[in-house]
Amino acid sequence: DRKTFQFKDEILKELRRVFTDESNILRMGQENPYNVRFTGDRGNYMDKSSNELLCELKKVSIHTLRRIDIRNHPLSSYIPKRGLFENKRFNSCAIVASAGGLKGSQLGPFIDSHDLVLRFNHAPTIGFHDDVGNKTTIRLLNSQVVTKPQFKFLTSKLYQNITIVAWDPSNYTASLDDWLQKPDFNLFPNYMEFRKRNLKSRLFLMNPKSLWNVWDYIQSNSPSRLRRNPPSSGFLGLGILLPYCNFVDIFEYVPSTRVTKRCHYYDPEENVACTFGVWHPLAAEKLLTYQMNIADDKTVFQQGFVRIPGFQNLEC
Ligand code: C5P
Repeated sequence: DRKTFQFKDEILKELRRVFTDESNILRMGQENPYNVRFTGDRGNYMDKSSNELLCELKKVSIHTLRRIDIRNHPLSSYIPKRGLFENKRFNSCAIVASAGGLKGSQLGPFIDSHDLVLRFNHAPTIGFHDDVGNKTTIRLLNSQVVTKPQFKFLTSKLYQNITIVAWDPSNYTASLDDWLQKPDFNLFPNYMEFRKRNLKSRLFLMNPKSLWNVWDYIQSNSPSRLRRNPPSSGFLGLGILLPYCNFVDIFEYVPSTRVTKRCHYYDPEENVACTFGVWHPLAAEKLLTYQMNIADDKTVFQQGFVRIPGFQNLEC
């Protein structure tokens, strides 16, 4: 209806404005801590269909580290032999972006009805069941959550009896060896300790090259220059799940009419940049994700989720 259409128009305009502003700042010379040097061509997501964008994403290498990737390194015996889900397949998958807009959404039961639920970092469910559900199949953690004592990675119940994928950015051109010697936040000691304490745990590390492969993909489909920092956990989560799911619903990533200044549903801190872009190339990610979406606008902007078809059923 008209209200949905008006809201959609405003949100997309705001995302485009933020993205263009960022690109202008970049042109004036923003720091480049990961030495990103993109040599490809910049395309435009708006010229491509959901199917075309997904067929391209399917070709991007996005993997967790396997033991054979780092043979002879002291860490290697702790790294799983296999990939994330290998031959496992799920029908419906949910990604719960931690946005403040989830507060009051009452989406919990619907989120829990998915076969797999992915959550981020230390996002809680206890006390928030009505809005975000209580099922957690997998958590995607950045390396700060793994390393900083405040998050209690080794002892908190949040990280027990689930699958975990942790990620840490390398330099854009770094080899795996470079990264192992010089991670952004040194997550390896806690990684090994966690594995020692939980022998059967499913704790994976993202291959840091995958982060930049995803960044290249976003840039090659974005008309302006992208912030030279890794993609946000939200977009990485999508890239990780698409091979295993028939479809992925992402909640409150593309903002709905519940959009708020609140950064997270679980924390009163207000910061609009959490939703429209801080540090990560977030606005570009969200515009691209909306273009891949197959749900109608009422679902996206009133109910609050986009639906992305998994790679299994794509015809490329
Ligand atoms: O803040 P945090 O990184 O834990 O949030 C997880 C992910 O959820 C982010 O990487 C981002 O993709 C998404 N998010 C969002 N809008 C917010 C907060 C988080 O899209 N306000």
